[in-house]
Amino acid sequence: MQLPPSIDAVQELLAGQGYVCGRPLATVVFLSLTLGRPLFLEGEAGVGKTEIAKALALALDRKLIRLQCYEGLDAATAVYEWNFPAQMVAIRTAEATGDRSRQQLTTELFSDDFLIERPLLEAMRPDGRGAPILLIDELDRTDAPFEAFLLEALSDFQVTIPELGTIKAPEPPIVILTSNRTREVHDALKRRCLYHWVDYPDFPREMEILAARAPEASAALSREVVAFVQHLRTEDLFKKPGVAETIDWAKCLLALDVINLSPETIADTLGAILKYQDDIAKLQGSEAKRILDQAKATLDATP
Ligand SMILES: Nc1ncnc2c1ncn2[C@@H]1O[C@H](COP(=O)(O)OP(=O)(O)O)[C@@H](O)[C@H]1O
Ligand SMILES: [Mg+2]
Repeated sequence: MQLPPSIDAVQELLAGQGYVCGRPLATVVFLSLTLGRPLFLEGEAGVGKTEIAKALALALDRKLIRLQCYEGLDAATAVYEWNFPAQMVAIRTAEATGDRSRQQLTTELFSDDFLIERPLLEAMRPDGRGAPILLIDELDRTDAPFEAFLLEALSDFQVTIPELGTIKAPEPPIVILTSNRTREVHDALKRRCLYHWVDYPDFPREMEILAARAPEASAALSREVVAFVQHLRTEDLFKKPGVAETIDWAKCLLALDVINLSPETIADTLGAILKYQDDIAKLQGSEAKRILDQAKATLDATP
């Protein structure tokens, strides 16, 4: 599958996977693909950062390799590991049969057969369908040493395994990094990438997303759901609902055969949009009704 030749083509490709992509985001995606630069996407949780990598992989028919970051992730586990249990078994077997020299055995133990490839090494391997997409997800969860290591790996797309030598990607992978911005990622890494802040969608775009992801919902219910969530995001909450929550909520309401929002149905289903007890408590009493009234007023004002 060829890379998309224009920004419009990027939007079309992603739309084909049910991903609604605004012009600014489509532009950085296009540039990143064309220039071969890593793409750094930052934004609140649930705004569609991870999803774009998945949609792109499907649309371009490329292998998606995901490196999920977490606290304590180190270079070794991100690149490769030796299959220690299998090596032990091989040593025992060799000892029992006694038919190999020490030298032979060592060469055998540190060969491809005992190598467990982790995402970064996997992404350096050629793939029949073209360069894979390497998703480095939630980078903000790791620490500075890992970032420094990544910076190097992303600059020359090669990894060195002492026992095997240097492995270089014949074609660099398409790299997408995401961060939920629980901390700032270092400048040096950001400078290597094209950057885009993925914001909450506005009303028309969130309607489009809902139509793509929960087409069973009626237009009337979708409008109320989106308007309510949009108003809810302007409230002072510990964790604002993302697009994922809007979609979940619409599906919950559908499952309950709700036709129109009411303060009661909202109270019953708040757990689909708010995930912190403090936030839920804030919406109890007359608050949900106040926000619903505001949302309905906005809807009446916009055709
Ligand atoms: N622009 C979009 N188009 C279609 N679906 C979207 C879009 N943005 C978010 N979603 C939906 O929201 C869900 C959560 O998005 P995700 O990419 O996991 O968020 P993030 O990685 O930013 O936390 C996705 O599974 C997808 O269904
Ligand atoms: Mg994500």
